[in-house]
Amino acid sequence: MIDQGAEAIITIKGNTVIKQRIPKTYRISEIDTRLRKLRTRSEAKLLQKAQGIAPQVLDVNEQTMSITMEYLKGALFKDVFDTLSTSQRKHYLHELGKKIGHLHDKDIVHGDLTTSNMLVTKDGLKIIDFGLGSVSKKFEDKAVDLHLLQQALHSKHYTHSAEGFLQVLEGYKTSQGHVAVLKQLEKVEKRGRHKQKGVVF
Ligand SMILES: Nc1ncnc2c1ncn2[C@@H]1O[C@H](COP(=O)(O)OP(=O)(O)O)[C@@H](O)[C@H]1O
Ligand SMILES: [Mg+2]
Repeated sequence: MIDQGAEAIITIKGNTVIKQRIPKTYRISEIDTRLRKLRTRSEAKLLQKAQGIAPQVLDVNEQTMSITMEYLKGALFKDVFDTLSTSQRKHYLHELGKKIGHLHDKDIVHGDLTTSNMLVTKDGLKIIDFGLGSVSKKFEDKAVDLHLLQQALHSKHYTHSAEGFLQVLEGYKTSQGHVAVLKQLEKVEKRGRHKQKGVVF
């Protein structure tokens, strides 16, 4: 086992990773089973739809609530972010923006874009963990996806967050739908600032 999060345990077996959703004992058993089955199915579908950007899915088992996928050798973006050279960091952030743009053009909203869910591999930056993802055409959902990334950068990698997010946006501009999403992002950000003010005063 390499990781145990709130939802799943991650085990490496050879060149594969098995992500198994574990029961939550505080939930009513039937609801828990149904929810884990739905999330396993949904994550597997999104991973498949995100082919090339996410690990390849090798098997889905709705009985054991597990997804077997390709093991991606590399470092978590979170762990190397602050040690990369400026030009490397820029490169990966630009690539990240481009890849988020690809996902959004396919109407995939990731839902949890943090640097813990990104791996730097020899084949470039890969995005993992579609457990909170969804399929949506809405500019709003895509803008919120970007906004959450901006907040994650701000809280985990403060020193490089402002410059870093600009790089992400540059890469994102290669996507087909970027104009409408970035316009919506401005509204989402404004809303966020109003909310913050509300907390302060
Ligand atoms: N395909 C993979 N290849 C390599 N490491 C992985 C892979 N999938 C998950 N991991 C590792 O397991 C951790 C947790 O996986 P993740 O899918 O993010 O689960 P959780 O929903 O618990 O956050 C990741 O941060 C990463 O370190
Ligand atoms: Mg994760």
